[in-house]
Amino acid sequence: MSGRPAKYDLVSIEDLETSDIERIFDLADIFTEALEAGRSSAVASGLIMATLFYEPSTRTRLSFESAMHRLGGSVISSADMHASSAAKGESLADTVRVVSTYADMIVVRHPYDGAARIAAEYAAVPVINAGDGSREHPTQTLCDLYVLRRKKGHLKGLTVALCGDLKFGRTVHSLIYALARFGANIVAVPYGGMDVPEYVLARVAEESNYGLSTVTIDELKSLAGGLDALYLTPSKPHQMALFTGEMPLERLPAVRPPALLDAFYVTRLQRERFTSGEPSQSAYGHFDARALRTSRTQEAVVMHPLPRTDELDYELDSDPRAVYFEQAAAGVPVRMALIAWMLEQATPPHRRSRLEPPIKFKSEVTPRCPNPSCIGRHEGNYLRPRFRLGRSPNRSLLMLRCDYCERELRVEFVGHTRSRRYYRFDESLYGFVRQWIEEGTLAVFDTVKEAEECDYEPYRRGPQREIMNAPEIARACDSLADQIVADAAEMTSLVIVGVISRGALLAIRLRDLIEARTGFRPPCAALDVCGRETCLITIEGPEQFAVDDRTVVLVDDVINSGWTVQCAMTALWQRGRPAAVKLAVLIDRGHRALPIRPNYIGRSIPTARSERVQVRLTSASEVEKRRAVDRVVLYSMVDALGPIKETEGA
Ligand code: CP
Repeated sequence: MSGRPAKYDLVSIEDLETSDIERIFDLADIFTEALEAGRSSAVASGLIMATLFYEPSTRTRLSFESAMHRLGGSVISSADMHASSAAKGESLADTVRVVSTYADMIVVRHPYDGAARIAAEYAAVPVINAGDGSREHPTQTLCDLYVLRRKKGHLKGLTVALCGDLKFGRTVHSLIYALARFGANIVAVPYGGMDVPEYVLARVAEESNYGLSTVTIDELKSLAGGLDALYLTPSKPHQMALFTGEMPLERLPAVRPPALLDAFYVTRLQRERFTSGEPSQSAYGHFDARALRTSRTQEAVVMHPLPRTDELDYELDSDPRAVYFEQAAAGVPVRMALIAWMLEQATPPHRRSRLEPPIKFKSEVTPRCPNPSCIGRHEGNYLRPRFRLGRSPNRSLLMLRCDYCERELRVEFVGHTRSRRYYRFDESLYGFVRQWIEEGTLAVFDTVKEAEECDYEPYRRGPQREIMNAPEIARACDSLADQIVADAAEMTSLVIVGVISRGALLAIRLRDLIEARTGFRPPCAALDVCGRETCLITIEGPEQFAVDDRTVVLVDDVINSGWTVQCAMTALWQRGRPAAVKLAVLIDRGHRALPIRPNYIGRSIPTARSERVQVRLTSASEVEKRRAVDRVVLYSMVDALGPIKETEGA
């Protein structure tokens, strides 16, 4: 009997490293050859796979079962999960716990987003996601990549047009994550407005620094027909997301139209996931041989995860470029390879342990996932809502991300569970919210009513007054630039790093002022210390922004507690060994919790801890549109019930 596999769950294609996928493909080559030669294998001899399919399947289920039999293992299954104890209301957690005692691995397909994650958490044996709602289908992606690589010889640099229902198509989502990692160019061609969801774009931007292009069917036709004038701009490029409202689109690099399209990946309309407002089949695109008649597309292969409905013409089937039945056939050797590879793994991976822990909420103030198909909304009370901070680095919005299905929720009102006060969220509260998350004292509410029904009192700002106007801010920036230049021993070793978001805007201004004074334009970067992971983004200068042996001028708008600056310093030192790090702040409030002294101060404005200083800096695009002016306002954090306690704020 083969040894039992380690608890290695395949929930997302991203649970596999690129090297893992390459090893699986090598094994798939071996199994393809063995199957063709009629050779058998005993790799999984004595092992049992359980297949739990809560949704219909032909390819995934039968190819998994065939693969296990071909490896000398056996399969147990419930022919219809509606005839299992699920029909009596048994939870997914209990089902997989029980089945773990009958089988050595579980393959699960489920209609709800995030179900495979739950199965993996509760099962004692490895769980393979065979499709969970509209979220992911990682083993289909293995088949897709395997066939694509076999047809094209490689994956890097290929241009793949994803056509159809990109909103609900789980195979498409896993494929996007994988193609981005393999360095392919993805052109999204949603039919009938079925666009790639925001949460997929955000994830691929964050994890692969990737922004895919989106075109309409008509634009794709122009492109395929040889129109050279069409330029594709990534629809949500990573840099754009990080500089929301502050980086003009024109400054982002345009992407030239691909010389060739290497593959069309067509998908059906996923009717079973419709909620409302989705297109009818007749409004959905129909793919036929005409798409392959242009000079740019004649080498393209046509892929489809199957089953198809009316979106793919049957006349294509005899064309050698139609490879969808090869994708389906690859299901057996690729899934044999996956099982064999799992049996090779001695220890489970620790990819998810890199994530920050989920936010702890007290029961009365727990948010609800907005996704009606989230597993967390269908499994009863044992699955408590679980959230992390959203991926958006824009601090003026508080977004929470459901840990089960990844959908994000915008929070309107936040509360502090000890003071029992609630606030309408705005950017000035971001630091508090981070602190409350760490303390486990964050509450979130959709509405005032909800907050008040939980016995939370409103917090109101005291009167607000302007303490710096635009000319005063400009003078303070001039003073900062003068101080930096006067202090610099060697200008050419200077680099400027601004803390997102106001610090980054100030960094750009200081860079320009320093250039005007010295003729030297220092490299400039923005540092995000509030995202899930800190990141440094070059604004101008070398792509690999170096801090080693440089004098780094770290720029922020206000020094409050010193917490942000301390995080930023730590992040800089993790990236290298600067010769020196000097801190420049527009405003020093004169008190802080941490013993940090700015080197360069624009203006000292003594304030009480119970006051907030809010800086408004106009971005270049706003200046052009004459929409806003720079100003600094001070407001009291005193409400009708008295001053806010120091422990409540940074
Ligand atoms: N491609 C795919 O998942 O097919 P089935 O639904 O038949 O498993």
